[in-house]
Amino acid sequence: MTDEEIPDQGIRLRSPRTDEGGALWAVARDTGTLDLNSSYLYMLLARDFSDTCVVAEHDGRIVGFASGYRRPRHPEVVFLWQVGIRPGLQGKGLGKRLIAAFLRQPGADRASLLETTIAPENEASRALFQSMARELDTECRISPCFAAEDFPEPGHSAEELFTIGPYRPSALNRLAP
Ligand SMILES: CC(C)(COP(=O)(O)OP(=O)(O)OC[C@H]1O[C@@H](n2cnc3c(N)ncnc32)[C@H](O)[C@@H]1OP(=O)(O)O)[C@@H](O)C(=O)NCCC(=O)NCCS
Repeated sequence: MTDEEIPDQGIRLRSPRTDEGGALWAVARDTGTLDLNSSYLYMLLARDFSDTCVVAEHDGRIVGFASGYRRPRHPEVVFLWQVGIRPGLQGKGLGKRLIAAFLRQPGADRASLLETTIAPENEASRALFQSMARELDTECRISPCFAAEDFPEPGHSAEELFTIGPYRPSALNRLAP
């Protein structure tokens, strides 16, 4: 079955297992747009941050993921670091399902703000988070975060901070299962 043929209901969302960091790395690589970090970094995420990560699995294969953490000095904030879906499965609502599952993870319990950073040219990601704010019936504020010149590599885009919230725990019940 190609990615395009995978039905929505055939995709299960769950926490990553310790040995699945490499699969997260492969999805990030295959998106072609995400910053690809070292495989070791994704292994640490799967091992130590599984309470704030979600994977989308189809037939034993990881086809998407969302990763993040609770901000240590701002526990009301859950920060979403990367969300990525294999290209053939994008644009079908899986991004929204992944964010909803991310907000329901144990590590996001009692958080009231969702943060992420997005490059100005990433239309799909901007649309995804603005749509989540509407579904949570709350605001999406956009402010400067990392300037292009803050990055050591030439050609890296700026990253703007998206702050979604405050949202009520009950708002999560309205999101996609
Ligand atoms: C960004 C990404 C996770 C979005 O997931 P997705 O499954 O494609 O998005 P969804 O189908 O859930 O759509 C969510 C919303 O965004 C909109 N959207 C999705 N793709 C879009 C695009 N290319 N352009 C404009 N809007 C888009 C949808 O219409 C929907 O809006 P709505 O709820 O108002 O109808 C996915 O496209 C992806 O993996 N991209 C590559 C990696 C990446 O850039 N990640 C983000 C940076 S961390």
